[in-house]
Amino acid sequence: MDVREGSVAVEVPEQPDEGAGDVVFFNPEQELNRDLTAAVLRWAADERGGPGTYLDATAASGIRGVRAAAADWTATCCDVDPEAVDLARANFARNDLAGEVVHRDANALMHERRFDVVDVDPFGTPAPFDDAAARSATELLCVTATDTAPLCGAHFNSGVRKYGAVPRNTDFHPEMGLRVLLSALVRTAARRDVGARPVFSHATRHYVRTYLRVSGRATDADDALRDLGYVYHCASCLYREHDRGLIADPLECCPNCGTDTQAAGPLWLGPAHDSDAVAAVRERIDDGMGTASRARRLCDRLEAELHEPTHYDQHRLSKEWGVSAIGMDEFLDRLREQGFAASRTHFGGTTFKTDADVEAIRRATT
Ligand SMILES: C[S@@+](CC[C@H](N)C(=O)[O-])C[C@H]1O[C@@H](n2cnc3c(N)ncnc32)[C@H](O)[C@@H]1O
Ligand SMILES: [Zn+2]
Repeated sequence: MDVREGSVAVEVPEQPDEGAGDVVFFNPEQELNRDLTAAVLRWAADERGGPGTYLDATAASGIRGVRAAAADWTATCCDVDPEAVDLARANFARNDLAGEVVHRDANALMHERRFDVVDVDPFGTPAPFDDAAARSATELLCVTATDTAPLCGAHFNSGVRKYGAVPRNTDFHPEMGLRVLLSALVRTAARRDVGARPVFSHATRHYVRTYLRVSGRATDADDALRDLGYVYHCASCLYREHDRGLIADPLECCPNCGTDTQAAGPLWLGPAHDSDAVAAVRERIDDGMGTASRARRLCDRLEAELHEPTHYDQHRLSKEWGVSAIGMDEFLDRLREQGFAASRTHFGGTTFKTDADVEAIRRATT
């Protein structure tokens, strides 16, 4: 079937109704992810004074590489599957674009060669690619993870194995997943004396996507590690607090209700995006993108989102407290009137961030 995205048209095989099948993979649901990547690449090109080299490490049909080439990046697509390699070559030709297509294990390629931007968009977890990707990327590392159950603690052992962190299944699970992924990427990069900091991240339906600015300075890696730490969470009253540092210092019990708390970490506790970068990316979304309105809405939410490392859901709190939910604007105004910072989040329509603790939220809003 033919797929048009941005200014390119690629051919992809009909996908089986269920499961991976044995045809070259294509997921139309990831168009938002790819449109945002195109906007991020425009921003990155402007930041660096022109497009550079871009590796689509797990390319499948090559759609990401083809879109990057259409934006004048020197694109390389890589895949282990020979059918994917043939298809990616055909898709470059079809668009009259130059692009290198490599039949290789992405890890081997990334250990041998360096690219300004490396994009890892694999099946499930990116964990097997993290180390080589941190070695290969010189400016920007783009990573998708679709294994949300391990990341958010629903598949606990798998999360611990893949990410070297303790994930917990909390009421803010998409953010737990994002911060477990970021922690693993930052620690993996630091092993190579590479500093990595997220400039744009989102958790959307069944995946997490992040873009990290990387630098080859060991002091930047040290700095990034200082933004790792632990979240202590009470599943009973939803109280939580966080603490930076690689040595956990768990709470004896919840200071709000006395129940045992759960520790999660090490998590990335620093900003998951840079608001100026998000605003600049938003400006580079164009109406030719199929998901332009959604992508702009997502950027608007992200830009205004507080950098608190966890969020709440008003509906969940209302249920917990046995009160009726109210409109989000009014809810946030009540918090602000009491002197707290408050914002919506991109994690869901009734989610919010604040510097108030759960008891203060209750007092301010009920
Ligand atoms: C989820 S698909 C990529 C989708 C594509 N990025 C897109 O946006 O449509 C993952 C691809 O990674 C490839 N792959 C899996 N393991 C690999 C490896 N070790 N090296 C390179 N490619 C690999 C698979 O063959 C598959 O084509
Ligand atoms: Zn509690």
